[in-house]
Amino acid sequence: MPGVTVSEPGRKIGSNAALFFRRWLANPLQMGSVVPSSPALCRRIAALVTQGPGEAVLELGAGTGVVSRALLDAGVPPERLLVLEIVPDMAEHLGRTLPGVQVLCGDAFDLGQVLPRRWHGRIGTAICGIPLVLLPIAEQRRFVEAVEAVAPGRGFLLYTYCATSPLPYRKLGLAARREAWTPWNLPPASVWRYWHDEAQAHP
Ligand SMILES: C[S@@+](CC[C@H](N)C(=O)[O-])C[C@H]1O[C@@H](n2cnc3c(N)ncnc32)[C@H](O)[C@@H]1O
Repeated sequence: MPGVTVSEPGRKIGSNAALFFRRWLANPLQMGSVVPSSPALCRRIAALVTQGPGEAVLELGAGTGVVSRALLDAGVPPERLLVLEIVPDMAEHLGRTLPGVQVLCGDAFDLGQVLPRRWHGRIGTAICGIPLVLLPIAEQRRFVEAVEAVAPGRGFLLYTYCATSPLPYRKLGLAARREAWTPWNLPPASVWRYWHDEAQAHP
């Protein structure tokens, strides 16, 4: 594919950054950042992933695939990694640069339709890179419900540049914990874990 080099590490980073920046120019709210996630952030996300026998890891908003590659480096088998991206040319880039990984092109808010049936109920960890903080609460609730429908009781990880929780988790019936933080990202980033909390849902 012209313009994307995957064989030389230096070029790969440059190509990822260029692709990311082009998409940011086209739709800044959808991207949420000007540059891809740093290696330090990607490693921290990968360290939080759990996956039981027969389960997959699901990445939502995979972008240039930097988190996906950290997940593979951390030992997630490619055939057990599912990555979803809404922008078709980014999904195509992911398909070319992540051999063996199942790349889905679609909207995370339609997860029930986009995710193949055989994976419903078999998600060990769901990771979200979509800038949910920018959305109204009704949309955030739709997202939470979409994940819960395919990964019941598992919650999800969300990486963010916010200093505090990017989601109003109590209003969404969730519990939350900040699991990681790194200054080695532009801007510094945190990884939050959210899960359903019956006490919050029925106070
Ligand atoms: C902050 S970027 C993270 C990408 C990745 N960490 C990287 O550094 O390349 C967010 C990504 O989510 C994608 N995205 C935004 N809304 C989405 C949606 N509703 N469904 C799936 N992907 C979405 C964007 O196109 C973008 O690639």
